[in-house]
Parts: sequence; C-alpha cells; structure tokens
Amino acid sequence: MDLVPVIQQRFSANAFLPDPVSPEALDRILEAGRRAPSAKNRQPWRFVVIQDAGYRRKIQEAAYNEPWVGQAPVIIAVCSTNIDYRMPNGQLAYPVDLSFASAYMELQAFHEGLGCCINTTFQEDDIRELLTVPYSMRILLLLVIGHVAEKRTGEPHRLSKARIVSYEHW
Ligand SMILES: Cc1cc2nc3c(=O)[nH]c(=O)nc-3n(C[C@H](O)[C@H](O)[C@H](O)COP(=O)(O)O)c2cc1C
Repeated sequence: MDLVPVIQQRFSANAFLPDPVSPEALDRILEAGRRAPSAKNRQPWRFVVIQDAGYRRKIQEAAYNEPWVGQAPVIIAVCSTNIDYRMPNGQLAYPVDLSFASAYMELQAFHEGLGCCINTTFQEDDIRELLTVPYSMRILLLLVIGHVAEKRTGEPHRLSKARIVSYEHW
C-alpha cells in the first residue's frame, strides 16, 4: 500500500493520445471519487463524464481552445450539488470536498497508467449550458484524462520541507 510512487509519478499531462480509456478504469476512477471524504459526509458532488467527441470539442472551445482538453478521450466535470454549507471553521465546504474527490480521481488515473490534468481555465457558463448544470451550482474544475503522449521530463519544482513545514509554531 505504498502511495508515494504513484504521487511521485503524477504530473499534469498536457498531451494525450486518442486511445480510449477502458470502461473498467473509468469506473475505478469514479469509484475513487465516490469514496473521498467530505465535510459531515455530505458528498456535495456530481461527476459529469464527457466522452462524446462533439461535446469534448465544445468543452475545448470553452477552455480557450487549449488543444489537449479536446485530445483526451475523457473529461470529468467536477460539479457541486450544494454551495452553501460552511464547515465549523466558517469556511465553505464544497471547494474543499470537491478538491478531495478530484485528487482521489487524479491519483487513481495515474495508478491506472493514465495521465490527467486539472483544468480551471474555462468559461463556466458555456460548459454549464452544454452540460445542463443548474444555475445554482458550480463547476469547480475539469479533470482531463487519457493516455499520455508525452511523459514528464525532470522533477517538478517543489518548495523544500524546511520552507513549508514547522513544528509547534508557525
Ligand atoms: C486548483 C488547480 C487548478 C489548476 N488549473 C490548471 C489550468 O487551468 N490549466 C492547466 O494547464 N493546469 C492547471 N493546473 C495544474 C497546475 O498548473 C500544476 O498542478 C502545477 O503547475 C504543478 O505541476 P504538476 O501537476 O505537473 O506537478 C491546476 C492545478 C490545480 C491544483
């Protein structure tokens, strides 16, 4: 149960092959999202899976024509089903809950040998209309998933632990 290798190999893929994602792998990715934790276990999410080529092209247009968004055979629009609930600390729950679900799905995608990229660079209203997402709900992000065309070269920059971790005080 060593997760670190999967975490280490994860990177934001931005070139995909047209090869399909198997229904079994997609189902396991969605299962990973379904199993994610959420505040008060409210699970305020809906995962809209887009595989249709015409829809993917329209999503690519709404994503400022970023080519790789339309290249990947699967896009999951991670949407809220409640945008009001606040956690006891006063902060909104849905961005946190949906981010956990997205992270679980992204890691499962890499565990399946696939690539994934998070995309937040899109016109929400255009995608809302296309996918008939209710006006009161939000599309937090898109997970763009497929077989990667180019692997990452080199290690990504990350701040050192000395910079980001402290003990007993800030
Ligand atoms: C909340 C969030 C939003 C992001 N939005 C975008 C995006 O709109 N377009 C994009 O190309 N990458 C996006 N990314 C990917 C980041 O740019 C990427 O994770 C970061 O540069 C680190 O690179 P790595 O994922 O390869 O380690 C997003 C990542 C996160 C966590």
